[in-house]
This record gives sequence, structure tokens and C-alpha cells, in this order.
Amino acid sequence: MTDHVLIFDTTLRDGEQSPGATMTHAEKLEIAEMLDDMGVDIIEAGFPIASEGDFKAVSEIAKRSKQSQICGLSRANFKDIDRCWEAVKHSARPRIHTFIGTSPLHRAIPNLDMDQMAERIHDCVTHARNLCDNVQWSSMDATRTEWDFLKRTVDIAIKAGASTINIPDTVGYTEPVESADLIKRLIEEVDGADTVIFSTHCHNDLGMATANSLAAVAGGARQIECTINGLGERAGNTALEEVVMAMRVRKDIMPYDTRIDTTKIMNISRRVSTVAGFPVQFNKAIVGKNAFAHESGIHQDGMLKNRETFEVMKPEDVGLSGTSLPLGKHSGRAALRDKLEKLGVEMGDNELKDMFVRFKALADRKKEVFDEDLIALIRQHDGVDDHLKLKDLTVICGMNGPQKATMVLEIDGEDKTVQATGDGPVDATFNAVKQLFPHGARLQLYQVHAVTEGTDAQATVTVRMEEEGRIATGESADTDTVVASAKAYINALNRLIVRREQTEVGYDEKAVSYKDTDA
Ligand code: KIV
Ligand code: ZN
Repeated sequence: MTDHVLIFDTTLRDGEQSPGATMTHAEKLEIAEMLDDMGVDIIEAGFPIASEGDFKAVSEIAKRSKQSQICGLSRANFKDIDRCWEAVKHSARPRIHTFIGTSPLHRAIPNLDMDQMAERIHDCVTHARNLCDNVQWSSMDATRTEWDFLKRTVDIAIKAGASTINIPDTVGYTEPVESADLIKRLIEEVDGADTVIFSTHCHNDLGMATANSLAAVAGGARQIECTINGLGERAGNTALEEVVMAMRVRKDIMPYDTRIDTTKIMNISRRVSTVAGFPVQFNKAIVGKNAFAHESGIHQDGMLKNRETFEVMKPEDVGLSGTSLPLGKHSGRAALRDKLEKLGVEMGDNELKDMFVRFKALADRKKEVFDEDLIALIRQHDGVDDHLKLKDLTVICGMNGPQKATMVLEIDGEDKTVQATGDGPVDATFNAVKQLFPHGARLQLYQVHAVTEGTDAQATVTVRMEEEGRIATGESADTDTVVASAKAYINALNRLIVRREQTEVGYDEKAVSYKDTDA
């Protein structure tokens, strides 16, 4: 057994499956490049049979990847596996990942008895293996599968040629001792177990995904499946940053290596949060805004004397710059470039030019521009391809409502103006958008946070909208909370429009379920 633990990232597959985590094609390519760069061993880039969009993204990522193996997911049937192979085969290191639910509840879905399922596993892994020499098998809902049958499925998959055996805790049901024991027992009792890598894939329904993954490694697993920020179905998957940093900080008791360059963690965390539209909770381990903040006097005093008093890792280890000197309106382009480089952001000359204009506009309104302000500026996407763009907004507030919003909105290149009223400035603003661009989307979430301290702080606004089962999240920041709200609302609508267009061309994330078709 080696001391190396493979990191298998499924942000683009399991992560993207979570409701509202919409990523465009370009965003998927960008995240895949960042994962490749940070040293992820295997990138699960998507579910190629699910849609034309997924197929294209997996194929393109396979063509572009430098170091990482590129994996696609497929249900246990020949059609899925063939489609998956067509997408991943462009990679220098392709992998086919095929699965079926093996627990009693999951066996009932395709209505297969144990013998029929065993035969299906044999046929599908053999078929995948004839296409690709790197095949991963998953017995979905393994932690709720009868021991004897689980053992049988693993045995069949190994004999049919799978080189990685994944033992998913699909519904986040297991706990650490059980997680370790399950892997250990499989390794001890299944013939040929020493010729394959055992993998763990945990969901966080009971908040134990990280603990369960690390316990599985103690039991002998040598691959952890995880996502950036723990993005994923329901309560999410194991968070990459948590398992990687835990193994690094507690090497004394978990002596395992990964290839991950941990200094790239913060940047990818921010980027995934932005493109998926999932804000990171403030007290999230490793990547939360407060993960390295020390508020109380006792803590601050201890930190000044010796930072180890209250910190088990250095902010620099995860890519946070230690000291942060703010920029101001007199700072030049060189200072901005230097600061961006320190934040791990590389920009071409044109991008930097555009960013400098936005930075100057902000610095005119705000005395000091902190790292957090710059990150919020970077997060505001360029909007080049957007259908809707906010051109102007004036809101009249006051104690005696209704509040009044006058808005100019560019819709597909044409400026339209309206005046709307509402119960408060934000309501009036959203009503103005709705009058100019009537839609049936429902507001699910409206959240405002201050990026930094002070009354001139930028507000980051997150808006989540739902339309016919499709969910999209928009985000924006501005020193004017109402302007930030308008932009976030419009951003969410733009994402919904993209989602709608994808559905019209046959892309529908709900079209593919785990319910299997014939092999
Ligand atoms: O949670 C799960 O079981 C999965 C499988 C498809 C591996 O995501
Ligand atoms: Zn999963």
C-alpha cells in the first residue's frame, strides 16, 4: 500500500449536479484548467450521455488537460459507456467511470435481482475495459448494500478488469469507524483487492463526509473523491480543501501525500463559488472568510505573540496573502497588477486595462480598496454575452413610500426605460426589471453581505431564481446596495436564459436520472 492518496475531483460532475450550480461551457473549461494546474490526479469532467453540453465539455477538457486523468461518468449500460468513451478518449489519460446502485432500494429502480445485477456489472465493466484500460467501478449506495452482495459486486468488477473500485456513501449515511472498516474488510476479503485502488466518495448529509473519507484512507482507500468547497448534491460532497489540508497538517497521524499545490486552494475556491453561484459560508473550514480571522482580544493577543496559539496552518499555505495593504485612488496600474499577482490572478493586458478602469471607479467612491474589494470586482463577470445589461438606475427612497425606481435596461442591444414602484428600493428595482423583461422566475433567495468594514464598504448581493425547475444564482458587488441588487438579479436572469436555451437544444439536467436503461 502506498502513502500516496489520489485526489479525484468531481466538482464538474457531482458538484455541477447540485440544484442551482450552473456553469457555462467556458466556465467548466476554466475550472478544469485550474484543477489540472493545482495537481488534481483525476478530474471527473461530466456525465457525457446527460446532454450535448456535457459531452462537449468533457471532450474539450479531455483535449486540453495537461497532467490530470480525465474521467467521464456513465450508468451501467453500453450506450452510456460508449458515449463516455467518445468524450474522454481525447485525453492522454482517459478514464471511464461506470456505476449502478447496489443497495436494496437502488436495485428496485431498474428492477434487477442480485444475479441480474451481477451479470450487468460483469458485462458493463468488460465492455468499458475493451474500450479503455483505465476503468473505475462504483457500487452506488455501497454503505447501505448488504455485505455479501457488495463483496460480490466488487469481486466481479475486479475480475472484469476495473482498476479502481469506488465505495460511495451516496446518502451520507456512514460514520468514520464503519467507513474505515468497510474498506479494510473489502481489501482483506476480496480476491485481487491488492491489484486495484480503493476509492471513497462521501456525501455530507450528516456532516461527516471529511471524517468518513479520511477514515476510509485509514482503512486502505487510496483515492478520495471530492469537490471544491464541498459543492454537490444536497449537503454536498467531501470538500477537497478539507481532506488535503487535514492530511497535510496532521501528517504525524495521517502520513499521506497528495500532488495538490495547496497555495492554489483559495483562488479556485473563490472561482468555483462565483461560477456556480454558491457563496461559501463564512465559517467554512479552510476557505471561509473567517477561517483565519481572529476577533476576540484574547485570540488577537495570542496571535501577536505566537500565531500557532490559535492557528494550525498558515493562511499562506492555502493561498491567502499574509498582510494586506489596501490600494487607493492614487495607485497605478503596476500596483494593481502586483496586487492581483499576489492574489494569484493572472490577467492579459486587455483584461488588466478593463479591471483598472473598474478599480479606479471603485477607488473614487471608496478611500481604501482592500483585497476583498478586488476579489469582488474580479467576480463580477464581464457580461459580454449577456442578454440583459443594466445601463442606468435611479431610486428614490424615503419614509413615505412607495419607493420609485427609474431604470434603463439594455435587452439584446436595445435600451428600454421604465419607472416602477415597490415596497422598498429593492422591490421597486426588481419590479422595474420585471416590467421591462417579463418573466415567470420566482425569487428563492436574496442575500446581502458587506465585503469589508465601514459605511463605504461594497455590498455583495446574491440572488437565486427558479423557473420551471431550473435554478440560477446571480451575484454582484457595489458600494450601492441597490445597484448591487439590481445587477445580481439581472445576472441570475441572464443565467436562467442560458439554462433555458440549453434546454431548448436538448440539454436538460433532469433528462438523465440514475434510473438505468437497458445494457
Ligand atoms: O454519490 C454517488 O454514489 C455518486 C456515484 C455516481 C459515484 O455520485
Ligand atoms: Zn455522489
